[in-house]
Amino acid sequence: MTPTVRRVTINDIPEMKRKGEKITMLTAYDYPTARIVDKCGIPLILVGDSLGNVILGYENTIPVTMDVMIHHTKAVVRGTEHALVIGDMPFMTYHISVEDALRNAARFIQEAGTQAVKLEGGATVADKVRRIVECGIPVMGHIGLTPQSINQFGGHKIQGKTAEAAKKLLDDALALEQAGAFAVVFETIPAPLATLITQKLKIPTIGIGAGAGCDGQVQVINDILGMFSDFIPKHAKQYAKLGDIMSSTLAEYFEDVKAGRFPTEQQSFPMDETALKELKADKN
Ligand code: KIV
Repeated sequence: MTPTVRRVTINDIPEMKRKGEKITMLTAYDYPTARIVDKCGIPLILVGDSLGNVILGYENTIPVTMDVMIHHTKAVVRGTEHALVIGDMPFMTYHISVEDALRNAARFIQEAGTQAVKLEGGATVADKVRRIVECGIPVMGHIGLTPQSINQFGGHKIQGKTAEAAKKLLDDALALEQAGAFAVVFETIPAPLATLITQKLKIPTIGIGAGAGCDGQVQVINDILGMFSDFIPKHAKQYAKLGDIMSSTLAEYFEDVKAGRFPTEQQSFPMDETALKELKADKN
């Protein structure tokens, strides 16, 4: 069957930077959410390993495995026809060897059906990025406060604050560009630094907690929808309070069932009168 909607390709993304069009990326982890995001026209959907935190309830992204990512990514891909879907390579699935990185990147493309993968790290993973790209798999980089290194950072700390750390981030971004990454995510770094690196790179930069000077922005969907009321990351704007809406909706359902107000005739199925009479008359 011929698809009616053209899917975004990696060529569209640098083109957006060239034209000065801001790039929007959002995470999704399941079929219904992916459908909604896709129909909004958002060009990039990331199946982030942040699902470890926001979907599976882990403290961080470290426990997320390839099998879990593939399971969720397949559902997201099934819900999209327009967005370019990016699979996030989980902790230690691309560090041990180039072979490992290639095998796992290939699973996203071949099994889950994504158009690209993302991995965390700069110069230290550049050899893996280069080989994955050479094998025909587009790669998005990710530097700054990379959550898979949370134990190394000793917590959620802004990265690139000193001149030395800022220079390292610039070198990392350039290393990713040279290795063939089509875009790079900057997470939790000072806004002026993100702007400076963005101006130095040919590939687009996508920020999360990196200010308005990036070529695009990415957010974790649960944060902007307000699924959790107890924690709002500083980089996120809550556009809605879906968690509160869900709670009050479910409370109403609970009350209705207890009070016998649900279901009504509207949600019930009638039965043929004669059949019902026969059944009632049946002695068994
Ligand atoms: O896993 C994720 O959601 C991410 C984004 C925060 C960029 O890596």
